[in-house]
Formats: sequence, structure tokens, C-alpha cells
Amino acid sequence: DGQLRRWDGPFGEAFSPVLLKSAEGLLPHRLGRFPLLDAAAARSALDAAKKAYGQGRGRWPTMGVSERIAHVADFLARFRACRDEVVRLLMWEVGKSLTDSRKEFDRTAAYIVDTIEALKDLDRDSSRLVIREGVIGQTRRGPLGVVLCMGPFNYPLNETFTTLIPALIMGNTVVFKPPRLGVMLYQPLLKAFRDAFPPGVVNTVCGEGRTVVGPLMASGDIDVLAFIGSSQAADALKKAHPAPHRLRGVLGMGAKNPAIVLADADLELTVRECILGSLSFNGQRCTAIKIIFVQRPLLPAFLEAFGKAVAALHAGMPWEEGVFITPLPEPNKPAYLAELVADAEGLGARVINPGGGEICGSYFAPAVLSPVDSRMRLYHEEQFGPVVPIVPFDDIEEAIRYVVESNFGQQLSLFGSNPQTLSQLIDPLVNQVCRLNLNSQCQRGPDTFPFTGRKGSAEGTLSVSDALRAFSIRTLVAAKDE
Ligand code: G3H
Repeated sequence: DGQLRRWDGPFGEAFSPVLLKSAEGLLPHRLGRFPLLDAAAARSALDAAKKAYGQGRGRWPTMGVSERIAHVADFLARFRACRDEVVRLLMWEVGKSLTDSRKEFDRTAAYIVDTIEALKDLDRDSSRLVIREGVIGQTRRGPLGVVLCMGPFNYPLNETFTTLIPALIMGNTVVFKPPRLGVMLYQPLLKAFRDAFPPGVVNTVCGEGRTVVGPLMASGDIDVLAFIGSSQAADALKKAHPAPHRLRGVLGMGAKNPAIVLADADLELTVRECILGSLSFNGQRCTAIKIIFVQRPLLPAFLEAFGKAVAALHAGMPWEEGVFITPLPEPNKPAYLAELVADAEGLGARVINPGGGEICGSYFAPAVLSPVDSRMRLYHEEQFGPVVPIVPFDDIEEAIRYVVESNFGQQLSLFGSNPQTLSQLIDPLVNQVCRLNLNSQCQRGPDTFPFTGRKGSAEGTLSVSDALRAFSIRTLVAAKDE
């Protein structure tokens, strides 16, 4: 409600995945403390959001578009002023390289600018007078209500803001739960939220998901769930809502994006794109290439070149120049990845790059496994880490079958040098995913492009203009034209 209150309850501690050397060995570096709100505090955040959504002239949902834009622009200026601090926290808290942390910050700021511009266009387009068959009407876009907004640890800024900003600018009010790994980098932004928006419009709840988010969903007072994260977490959140038919979802969930490499693919280009696709930010991108199908005649050359390229990747501290492999922020991730590797090895695959899969503190040396097949967990599970399964194939139908039968449908990459073969493959593949990348890695950007998925990968479409539509509804004020 815009009032500052002291939190007298418990605090959680945030640690960096960057370990520090000490006499006792490698120790986690403590970044700070954050309030562990309880269910009652989360409820008061929800009440504030509901109150701010209340009707009345000049209130947030009915405020003129230009006024809401002014609030968002004010927030943007405050956000930009926090760049250095937020970038540093992003790097320390989730282990993202300095270069990528800066990119994430700048891309987020650009997204806010693009959203403001897109809203001006949408508003011009939406609020037209229409006269048809004796009825005169004016359409306008209105908000949907209270949005619960949650983003993931891997892009704690960008992925959160690509739902938070469109939700706000369309007149919704928001309860926002920062990711558990990424909560510290929001601390400098809390003041910016408070100063830029009217009371109750953005309400941040820090704490354990099951303590704060469970009761919010169970209350039935959340109108829209804006969630980017795992499919399992999205399902659990949706199930907690007592009236699922009233809940709208704007969801970005899991993916197991395949790359399909045809025998005539340009080896150098394919290896370069597959490295970026599968191992950027240690493979912790929902858009990462998570399995590579290679047509058998090219397999030996591909394995050799790919293995060499992986061996040349620089592992180091996130702030080092040219670093590619950095520590993993999820404490249980190295053990989980080791399990996947052991499972595949037990069924006949081998790690083709020497040292692949070795664990040192929070580092996991990238492991490339071949030949992987459908008996192995790596064939099915979304590893979300630096392990790359390679599946040899003879007939393209084998790779197509994987795409068709997958529970996910976000993106795929197709590599080959014969334009005719590529164009013949577009038809059977394009309706299985939402982005087909020809001779290039899978990726979300540019953020103005539509970003969504089929099957278990997404609900609703995010991009600048699609997101404005996803967080609003078109209504009509109509009268007889007499
Ligand atoms: O984790 C999902 C991110 O939106 C990925 O974005 O593909 O542009 O790195 P990106």
C-alpha cells in the first residue's frame, strides 16, 4: 500500500554460486539477507493489489494510457540508474558472465522502451469508432485484474519484466514474487517500484514459494498467472487455484529444443551455432538446444569438431573476459547432471570430450555424450545444464518423429546446405514448434519477435505487442446509431 513497514519476521540468506577460497576450503559467499514473508504478509500484498485495481476515475486500471506510460517511463529512468548495482548482483547471484549480465540488463531496458512504443500503436489502433448495421461502437483495451508475476532464475530480469511491464502498462495491478535465486538483485529496484507507481500497483513478496505463493493462488483472487519457469511448477500453481476456469495463464514453461544436423551441413557454422545454442550460460536457457540429432555420414567429423570446440571453452569467474562456462547457481544441479551422465553411460553412451562431467565446487565441466538413444533419460529430460546429448540418425523421419512425439514444442534448429531439402523439411516441422531456425541456434531474441510454444512449452504469446494483448481484453462500448 505504499507504506514502509519494518519486517520483524525471519530472513533468508542468499549465497553466490561463486565460491571463495578460505583456510577451510571453498566456501559459499554470502550476498545478503531478504525477508521471508509469511502468508499473512503475502495476503496484505494481494489486498493492496486488489484495492489498487478498484474502480474509479483516475485509478490505475482506468487511467489514461499516456498517464500510465508516464509512470512506466519514470520507472525506466530509475531502473537505468540502478544498472551497475543490478548487473553486479546478477553476475554474483546467478553466476552469469559480466558481458551477459550487461546484455540482460540492456535488453530489459530496451524491452520497456519498445513496450511503450507498441502501446501507443495499439491504442491508436484499438480505440477506433466503428459503425456497422446501425450500431456505433468504440473499442478499447482493458486490463484483466490482479496478476501474479513470477520469473525464473536464469533470466531473473528479462523474463520477469517481459510479463511484469506489459501487465502493468495495460492497467493490471501486480503481485510480484522474485525468483529465489535472483531475489537480491531486486533489492535496489524495490524503491524504484515504490517511487514510480501509485500505492498497491506493484507489490513485491519475497519468501519461500510454498509459504507465499501457495496461499495467494489458493485464495482464488489471482486473475492472471504470469509465470516463466518449469512445467511442473506451472502445473502445481494452476492446480492450487480453486476456480481454474477463471484463471488466465501467460506461461513460458519447459522445452527440449532439438537441433537436426543433415549430412550436408556446413560443419564450421553448425558447430559454432550448436555450441552457442547448447552451452551459452551453461545451457541454462529455456531456449537452449538440449539434444542434437546428427545424420550418420557427418557424425565422426561433427563429434571431433564439437568435442574440440567444447574443450576450448573458457571456464572461469563470471567477471573474466571471454568466460563461457561459469558456476551453476542451483546447488543440486551438478549432482542431477552427473546422474543423467551416469544413466547414459550405463546404457552405452560415452563422454566424448576428456574431463567432461567433472565437478569442481559449483562448476560442472560440459559433457558431450554420444550415441544417445531413447532408452536414456537424457533423451527425454530437460537437463537445463551443460550436458549435450548427441543422437545419430540415418533417416530424417527418425528426427521428425522425435519432434512430433515430444511433450514440448518451443523451437528447433535445422542445419543443412541444400536449400531445396531445407524447404521441403519446413512443412513437416514448422507446425510442431513456434520457431524454426535455419542454420542458426535457437533463441528468443530479438524480443519483439513472438515468443511462445506448443504443447507443454507455453500458454499465450510474449513479444512486445503480443504481450500487451495477452494482458488485456478488447471491450466495446456500443450504442444504436440513430
Ligand atoms: O530462458 C529463456 C530466455 O528467454 C532465452 O532468451 O534465447 O534470447 O537467450 P535467449
